[in-house]
Amino acid sequence: MKIIICDNYSELSKKAAEIVAQQIQTKPNCILGLATGSTPIGLYDELTAMNQSGEIDFKDVISFNLDEYYPIAADNDQSYRYFMQKNLFSRININTSNTFIPNGEAADPVAECREYEKKIAEKGGIDLQILGIGQNGHIGFNEPDANLNSDTHLTELTQSTIEANSRFFENADEVPTHALTMGISSILKSKKIILLANGPKKRKVVASLLDSGINTNIPATMLKVHPDVTLICDREAYPGMHLGIDIGGTDVKFGVLDLDNNLVYTETISTPKASTDKNIMKAISDKSKMIIEKFPIAGIGVGTPGLIDKKRGLVSASNLPFDKSPIVDYLRQNIGIDIPVCLENDACCAAMGEAHLGVRAKNMLMVTLGTGIGGGIVIGGEIYSGSMGNAGEIGHICIDHDGIACACGHNGCWEAYASVTALINQTKKACEENPDSILNKLIKDEGAVTGKTVFDAMDKGCPVAQKVFDKYTTYLAIGIRNVIVAFDPDTIVIGGGISKEGERLLNPIIEKVKSDTPIRISILQGNAGAIGAAMLSKLKNTVK
Ligand code: PGA
Repeated sequence: MKIIICDNYSELSKKAAEIVAQQIQTKPNCILGLATGSTPIGLYDELTAMNQSGEIDFKDVISFNLDEYYPIAADNDQSYRYFMQKNLFSRININTSNTFIPNGEAADPVAECREYEKKIAEKGGIDLQILGIGQNGHIGFNEPDANLNSDTHLTELTQSTIEANSRFFENADEVPTHALTMGISSILKSKKIILLANGPKKRKVVASLLDSGINTNIPATMLKVHPDVTLICDREAYPGMHLGIDIGGTDVKFGVLDLDNNLVYTETISTPKASTDKNIMKAISDKSKMIIEKFPIAGIGVGTPGLIDKKRGLVSASNLPFDKSPIVDYLRQNIGIDIPVCLENDACCAAMGEAHLGVRAKNMLMVTLGTGIGGGIVIGGEIYSGSMGNAGEIGHICIDHDGIACACGHNGCWEAYASVTALINQTKKACEENPDSILNKLIKDEGAVTGKTVFDAMDKGCPVAQKVFDKYTTYLAIGIRNVIVAFDPDTIVIGGGISKEGERLLNPIIEKVKSDTPIRISILQGNAGAIGAAMLSKLKNTVK
C-alpha cells in the first residue's frame, strides 16, 4: 500500500483530484468508482473546479457508486443519488445516464445487486475506485464481520455505522438499517484504488489498518491484497508519530519522533520514589496520555532496565519496584487510545537510537556505562536479542574468573570493574589509601563521590586520580576489545552519563583497545533511549 500524507484536508482533496484527473486525461471514457460521505466532498469540489476550467472533461466518463441506503427514494435528500447529484453530477458535464448508483427503491434488492455487478463488468470494470473508510474499518458498506460477502449485495448496517451516519439525519432512528453495496471482491476488481482518510476521528482506524494483517473485522485490510492501492491521509488521520519512553531509576524520559524522525518533543519526569510499580506505571501513563492528546501518536516504545518478557509485556528490575509488572497492558488500558505498545531493554533502545539517528551505523554495539554496564547490539539496523531475549548483557562478560563477586552470582564480571559504580568504588578505595591526596581533599569538600570526581581531581593535577583513571580505562578497554573481537561491528558507541566527558574518556580507551574499529561517544546522549524506543515502535508498526 502506498501512503501519501498531506498537511491538511484541502491538500488531501487536491492530491486525490490530481489522481482522478490523470485517470480521465489518460482514458477519457474511463470508469470511476465513486464514494459518498463527508470525506470526498473536497475532492468533488476540486474536480468541479477542474471541469469548469476545462482541465478535465467528464463527457465520456462513466461512474459507479459504491453503495446506496435501502430502502430509500432517489429524491430523498439523504439518498446517495441525491448526494451525488448535489455534490458532483449537477456541477460537471457528466452524462447522467452514465452515472450508476444501486437503486434504493428496487422491488427485488437481490436482483438489483446482481444486475449492478453485471453492469460494472459489461462496461469494462472500474479503472479507478475512490474509497473513504468508516471508523469501524468499513469500505463501502462492507461492515466488519466474520465473513465478508464479496459481490454487490444487500447488507445490514452495524450500530456503529448507524450512529456515525446519524449526523446527516434528524436522529439515529431515521437512518435506514440496510444498504446495497459493492462487495470486497467488486472493489478489489478495480484496477486502481485510492483510500482517503482525514481528521482525528479516523486516526485509530488508520492505525489499525496499518498495524493489522488481513482481517475481516477491519474490512479495509482486505485492500492489502490489491497491487495498486494508495492511502491518502491528512496529518490528523495519519497516526504517524511515535512516542518513546525511557524508564530509569532516577527519571523517565519521553520523546516524540515525527514522520521525518525529528525529535519534536521531549519531557522528563522524576521516577516516583519509594513507590509501587502501579504508581510508576500510572505516572508514565498519565504523562503519555497528555502527550497523545497533543500529537498524533501511532505507537509507543518503552525502554526499561531489567529483565523483560516481550511476549507478555512484563518487566522485572532490581533498581525499580518492578516484579513481572505488566507495563504494556497498563499503558494500553490507561492511555485512552488503542495503539500498539512495544517493550525493549533500555540499552537496546539506546543502541537503536544511535544506530538510526545518532552515529548512524547498521551494525553497532552500544556500551552504556552507569550503575552497571548495559549493551545493545544492532545488526542490519535491527536489535539482536538472542534466543532468550537477553543478548547484549555485556556487563557480565568475565574478565577475571577469580575476581570481584557480581550480583549475578558469578565472579569477575566486566561491570564490577568498568561501570560508573566500579569507578566510584575505585575512587573511594584510592582515597582511603591516600588520605593526603588532592582527590581525598576534593571529596571532603564536595561531600560525595560521583563518576565525575576523578576527572575533577585530575584537572587539579592529582596523580592519585590519574592512576585511578588509568586503571579504570584499562578495564574499560579490555571489555571493549573483547566485544570488538566477538562482533566486528561497524562502530562501538559509548553512552551513559559519564560519556559526557567526551574525548577525555574516549582517547585513552582508543589507545588501549588498539583496534581499527571506530569507537565513538554517543551523539544522542540522554535522549538516546527515548529516541530509540520511539524508533523501535515506528519500525515495528509501519507498513512497508
Ligand atoms: P465519512 O464516511 O467520509 O463520512 O467519514 C466514510 C465511510 O463511512 O466510508
